[in-house]
Amino acid sequence: MRLRNIKNSEEIMKNSKYLIKEPHLYRGKWQDVFNNKKPIHLEIGIGLGNFILENAKKNPQINYIGVEKFTKVIVRALKKIEREEVPNLKLILIDALEIDNIFFKEIDCLFLNFSDPWPKDKHINRRLTSDVFIEKYQLILKRPFKIIQKTDNYKLYLYSLSQYQKYKFICQTIEYSLKNIPDNNIQTEYETKFLNQGNSIYKIDVSLS
Ligand SMILES: C[S@@+](CC[C@H](N)C(=O)[O-])C[C@H]1O[C@@H](n2cnc3c(N)ncnc32)[C@H](O)[C@@H]1O
Repeated sequence: MRLRNIKNSEEIMKNSKYLIKEPHLYRGKWQDVFNNKKPIHLEIGIGLGNFILENAKKNPQINYIGVEKFTKVIVRALKKIEREEVPNLKLILIDALEIDNIFFKEIDCLFLNFSDPWPKDKHINRRLTSDVFIEKYQLILKRPFKIIQKTDNYKLYLYSLSQYQKYKFICQTIEYSLKNIPDNNIQTEYETKFLNQGNSIYKIDVSLS
């Protein structure tokens, strides 16, 4: 995602009630951040934030946390979110590699939407469904849990599916395109772009009881 820097980024982040500034302080205590006992759903790599914002507005019975690695991306998401009132939504600015320092056995559902495919073998550990990340997810997810992944990249889809199966997770898959989008599907920015280009979307619903 090539984006220009936003001039007052630091100011926007400092003043935002949606951005949690020292997320490691809340490891194992994220329900306290929301001041309730509702389930917590996490999205890694929120991009411009449409998916997590629409989910939070539609499902006030669930708390949502969005993770993003780049300042210029999260600031754009924050600018959008600041126009709404969504007490069940928080964002954090970290690399997902740090995720197990931020959460502990408290996430009910993890969303991976159009994650970077990292096609070269030498970059395999950067894929968000590599062993490096799945081992971290097992530390932060609370059983029973779900992982929901969407991608238009067939190789990443096949790789991720084989990874989930290796860990004995239960997987259900669907493929759709512009003419048969599932009911209640909330689109991400990349998803809208890929659907409009005529690409197929591969969705994996993962669960472990
Ligand atoms: C291809 S974009 C998809 C954005 C959004 N999920 C969508 O579907 O429109 C991938 C996003 O994940 C973020 N990202 C990639 N690797 C990450 C990591 N290790 N930790 C946190 N965010 C990451 C990128 O900065 C980017 O915003």
